Amino acid sequence: MGVTAGIGVFDSGVGGLTVLRAIHAALPEESTYYLGDSARMPYGAKSQETVTRYALAAADFLCELRIKALVVACSTASSVALPALREHVQVPVLGVVEAGVARALASTRGGAVAVAATEGTARSGAYQRALTRAVPGLRVVARACPLFAPLVEEGTVEGPLAEAVVRHHLGGLADEGVDTVVLGCTHYPLLRHALAAVLGPGVEIVDGAESVAAELGRILGERGLRAPAGTPAVRRYFATDAPDRLQALGSRFLGAPVPQVELADLFAPGK
Ligand code: DGL
Repeated sequence: MGVTAGIGVFDSGVGGLTVLRAIHAALPEESTYYLGDSARMPYGAKSQETVTRYALAAADFLCELRIKALVVACSTASSVALPALREHVQVPVLGVVEAGVARALASTRGGAVAVAATEGTARSGAYQRALTRAVPGLRVVARACPLFAPLVEEGTVEGPLAEAVVRHHLGGLADEGVDTVVLGCTHYPLLRHALAAVLGPGVEIVDGAESVAAELGRILGERGLRAPAGTPAVRRYFATDAPDRLQALGSRFLGAPVPQVELADLFAPGK
């Protein structure tokens, strides 16, 4: 795969654009293909088998566009489908779990670490295992936050309602000795203000987006796959349903207007 091939990035919907944003900032010369599997969102409430099937279909779609790396910008898919994806595709596959864990470990000051995640991610134990593998004995509190992603999708990311929902899912964490919360879902960085308001100044809030982008740069560099400076980057966006919605909602996640979003049919006859 040549240096001009793109980076494939997928999520169940718009949340992964928070990771894409970090990739664009760190590696502006790289072409990127983003796929939001909006037809099948949310992944967070589905079984491991179903999420894995969806993730493999998303990977196949992106591989057809000629990619040199695949970034799983969805914590749920990263938690349950990474081994299957790595077996399935020829290019390096990066998930967001290890990156978030690294940030949490860099931030904690000896207290407990909380993982805020979808039900599927919390149930998988992926963050909990990675944290305690790195620091045996670390106290980890996992909280499933099923109302967060819909809240973010509806654009309610600040104010009394957002804070009430944050309190509902994460209230009392500081009292449990938690000093760091790792955002184990790519939708959650948008709730950062509401989270900070509820959790207070003693609790650090971290996510893995920037670390994934840095790790991606490192892997591409190691393999001699970095696009040379000055390469005009191609950026394409796909959604499996309602592309207009991804375009309208996406700018908030991407931090820039999302250009035209193309419709992708992952399960078309013959695929
Ligand atoms: N972006 C997904 C994740 O990071 C959350 C939304 C969903 O449940 O599909 O897990």
